Amino acid sequence: MDKIILRGGSSLHGSIEISGAKNAALPCMAACLLTDETLILKNLPAVADIRTMEKVLGTLGTLVSHETSPSLLAISQSLTCNQPSEFKAPYELVKTMRASILVLGPLLTRFGKASVSLPGGCAIGARPIDLHLEVMSKMGASIDIHHGYVEATLPAGKRLKGIDHTFPYVSVGATENSLLAAALADGKTILRNAAQEPEVSDLAYLLVAMGIPIEGIGTSTLRIEGQIRAGGAHYTIIPDRIEVGTFICALAIAGGSLSLTGVIVEHVAALLMALERSGCKYQFDATKKILSLERSPSNRLQPIHISTAPYPDFPTDLQAQCMAVLTQAEGTSTIVENIFENRFQHVMELQRLGASIDIDGRTAHVHGPSRLSGTTVMASDLRASAGLVIAGLVAEGSTTIERIYHLDRGYAHLDHKLRSVGVDIKRIKT
Ligand code: EPZ
Repeated sequence: MDKIILRGGSSLHGSIEISGAKNAALPCMAACLLTDETLILKNLPAVADIRTMEKVLGTLGTLVSHETSPSLLAISQSLTCNQPSEFKAPYELVKTMRASILVLGPLLTRFGKASVSLPGGCAIGARPIDLHLEVMSKMGASIDIHHGYVEATLPAGKRLKGIDHTFPYVSVGATENSLLAAALADGKTILRNAAQEPEVSDLAYLLVAMGIPIEGIGTSTLRIEGQIRAGGAHYTIIPDRIEVGTFICALAIAGGSLSLTGVIVEHVAALLMALERSGCKYQFDATKKILSLERSPSNRLQPIHISTAPYPDFPTDLQAQCMAVLTQAEGTSTIVENIFENRFQHVMELQRLGASIDIDGRTAHVHGPSRLSGTTVMASDLRASAGLVIAGLVAEGSTTIERIYHLDRGYAHLDHKLRSVGVDIKRIKT
């Protein structure tokens, strides 16, 4: 298993190109199951989860070809799904990537059957899929759970039917699966209290490009006119706001001046507002889509309060990275994690680096500034790993981060990008 060793103390200087959004790319890839025409996707990030989704789609009979850009950071894909010989997403793949559940809606709506392994619990919480199944069932599917698999079927010759549905709370994945299912349903579907995350909108815009009329994109009420068939499309995935946020946090803790290219600034507004309160400055060039950030060592970070919530509020996927930054603020910050019940696993590892953090239920009190000193730490999930890398940027001596396969699931060459802006960081292949 590869590990990363980085030496703290350097400030960041230079420019980083932002990759495509993993969490937008995955549902967009699943959309290829809606049509026998070819879907061409561009600007997918070169990360392990994209490869896993290619494997899932491959087991469902999809012809997948892909090309990696000369920079090795981006992938273009061609996906064609004629007639699957199998309608099953197996446990071996689903257990490595929960987003595999997103094949349920499109398989069911196009072919009337789908068998998808239950993903099981994960490092950040229980993460059930009841909201996904409730929608499929309300649309007319029979749902059974057998031997650890969700078996969803429709009576022969029947289509899913359009519904008016209100989600009891916001779920990104359930909104995406429902959008995919509604695309070929009979009649109109209205999804209320839908997730408004940019990744959901990216999927919706792709579906529109495939010939599915959708109103209300970017709002909490989505209206989808189900069609008999969907067509192919050429589509470019949005930039990864969580990657942008991760580099913003890196700059906030390490100082220096950094330009991030290919940014949609509204997508990171909640983080920028929080860090502005903490004393970081930024400028955005809307024409060139370049976000420029600066922090001098004399500019001390102030403590802040953060509470994670669905978009457009503060994202849970930036909580760990921001916590690492706040270990250096002058006073006590509080972080409330409202989305996942077990997303403080990085706290123990940050403590091993010298951070002073207490947990009280869903609230973490981060007492700063702490003098961090490098040691060996272990990543527990994707964003926790990024938080540890960020803490390592200011730790005295060297920090070794193990189990970085988590990092490689969602960040396109994070180590390489940080090295290019002056960080002493290397990957050890073992
Ligand atoms: C997506 O997960 C992202 N993953 C996550 O990013 C992200 O943290 C999360 O949304 C929240 O923004 C992908 O897009 C692939 P949810 P998802 O359904 O869709 C509960 C990363 O690091 N819930 O919005 O699984 C659930 O347990 C990952 O890139 C149910 O109870 O998240 C959670 O508490 C990690 N029943 C809350 O809702 C359901 O049927 C929100 O989860 C579905 C969800």
